[in-house]
Formats: sequence, structure tokens, C-alpha cells
Amino acid sequence: TPNLREWAEEVRALAEERDAVILAHNYQRPEIQDVAHHTGDSLALSRLAAQVEASTIVFCGVHFMAETAKILSPDKTVLLPDPGAGCSLADTITAEDVRAWRAQYPDAVVVAYVNTTAAVKAETDICCTSSNAADVIRSIPEDREILFLPDQFLGAHVKRVTGRENIHVWMGECHVHAGIDGHTLRERVAAEPDAEVYVHPECGCATSALYLVGSGAVPQERVKVLSTGGMLTAAERTSAGKVLIATETGMLHQLRAANPHTVFEPVNPRAECHYMKMITAEKLLTALREGTTEITVEEDVAARARSSVERMIAIGS
Ligand code: 13P
Ligand code: SF4
Repeated sequence: TPNLREWAEEVRALAEERDAVILAHNYQRPEIQDVAHHTGDSLALSRLAAQVEASTIVFCGVHFMAETAKILSPDKTVLLPDPGAGCSLADTITAEDVRAWRAQYPDAVVVAYVNTTAAVKAETDICCTSSNAADVIRSIPEDREILFLPDQFLGAHVKRVTGRENIHVWMGECHVHAGIDGHTLRERVAAEPDAEVYVHPECGCATSALYLVGSGAVPQERVKVLSTGGMLTAAERTSAGKVLIATETGMLHQLRAANPHTVFEPVNPRAECHYMKMITAEKLLTALREGTTEITVEEDVAARARSSVERMIAIGS
């Protein structure tokens, strides 16, 4: 519509005036993904945040992502169009929880998923995202015990793919991905025997997906456990007629644009993250006009978190 076009032009003009780069996560609303300078998964966006030349980063995503950008680029201004855009997974653990857990395992290496607050990152040794979690674990000597936090499903997944026994997993979960459960996946797969399946490792059904393969119910090449960025790469290459997608539904916009020959359908169409959707067209415009809301991280917290985040962006493809 012309309105959307005018809005997009104004957004880009204001970004230029402010010397701002707009980064959007793959779960953002379609119009936000389309207007952003870069759209991607958590790892790709963190790498961009560390590298971009612009003096301001407008982060269209959730609070922990804007904090991560600020940790990596402390001299830049980082704006989050709605500071209330949180994350139910990040909320499952506090810095105090990490200190208490570490006290029980003083020799362990603490690995934190990027979906954590800056204060939690400051208590950890190394961060990871869903796309490099296994590589991060492999970078740690095999004889070291590992505390993996906060996502239980991603934790179980990395345990399986790395074969490491000595990983203790925090029992947190994301309410959106936990809701994409094994029962729903099995029903959908049975109804669509020719479809491929891409599953985000935060999903409650990640274990069922591998069980379906392990039990021989579904051939191995049909099921892939992937980060959102990994799903996009797989979508560009697939020749399948249909792919069932187990992740937040915002992902479908990128997948459909990347490959118009394949039909992409959600495993659970109600899997929507209301935090991600808090970034609206109107709020992005206000953020660019008024320079709101600036995200800051206390310097001593940022300094302690920085090395774990820098290790994360250095590992994996
Ligand atoms: P990725 O984009 O890294 O796969 O992360 C998914 C997610 O839940 C972010 O909130
Ligand atoms: Fe957090 Fe889940 Fe939303 Fe991702 S989808 S931001 S993990 S609540």
C-alpha cells in the first residue's frame, strides 16, 4: 500500500539523518523485516552489531538482543523501539541463580544461551546461540563439567549432538517454543508424509523430532534441527514441495520470500512471540524521530559480559 511505502521511505530517511543502522530479527513483523538494513538470526545480528560503521543501532528485536549489541559496541547508541520487549526464556534465570549454581560446581564452565540478561552474561564464561551451541560446547575440553543455561530443550539437544555426558542443564524454557510440542509435531508429520520438517532446538518437540528419525518413522533427511538463520539457508536450497516449520511464525515471511516454489507451513500457527511483535511500524518511527529508547548496560557488568559474548561471535559459521 502507498502508506506502507511512505512509512518505509520516512524510516530510511530518518535512519540516514541519525546515522543509524536498523537490525531486525527473523521473528519481527513483515514490514519491520522488509524496512531493516539487515535481518537475521541472533548470531548474525550480534556479529553485525559488532561490525557496523553507523554510530546508532536501532534494534528491532527484544531487550537481551539490544543489550548484547551494546556490550559489543559500547561506543554506539543502541535504541530499542519498545523497551518492554522482553523474553520469557531470559526471565527464567537471574545473576544470583547463576552464582548459586556455580558454587555447587566450582570447576565447571558456564555456557549461557544469548537469550539471557546482561547481568547473567556477566556471570558466565562463554555465550552461544542456537546456531553455534554445539561448536561452543566442542570448544571446551571434554573432561570439563559444563553448566548450560537457561533453555532445557536446547540443552538436551546439544547434549545429544555432542555426546557429552557431563553437561548440567538449567530447566528454563521459552513459552512460545515449548508450546510447539511433540504431540502436535507427530500429528502434522503423519498428515503430511512427504513434507520436510525444520525444527528450532528451543522447541518442546525437538526431542520428538529426533525420536521420529531414530525410530525410523521419518527418514533422517526429512528432519532438520536448525537455528532461524539455518532454516533460511536450508529453505533456499530445498526442492521439497512442502516444509513444516517448528518455530515462531514470524520466520515464515523470510522463508516464503527466499523460496516461492516451496510451501512453508507452521507446525503450530499460534506460536507467536508477543514480545517480538511489540516492535510496530509506529514505534520504529518514533524511535528514529526521538532517539528512544536508549539501552545501556552498566560498565562493570558490560566489561564482565564482553569476553563471553566475544567468544560467542568468534565461534561457528
Ligand atoms: P535464533 O534466531 O538465534 O535461532 O534464536 C531464536 C530465538 O528464540 C530468539 O529469540
Ligand atoms: Fe524469548 Fe521465546 Fe520470544 Fe525468542 S520467541 S524472544 S526465546 S520469548
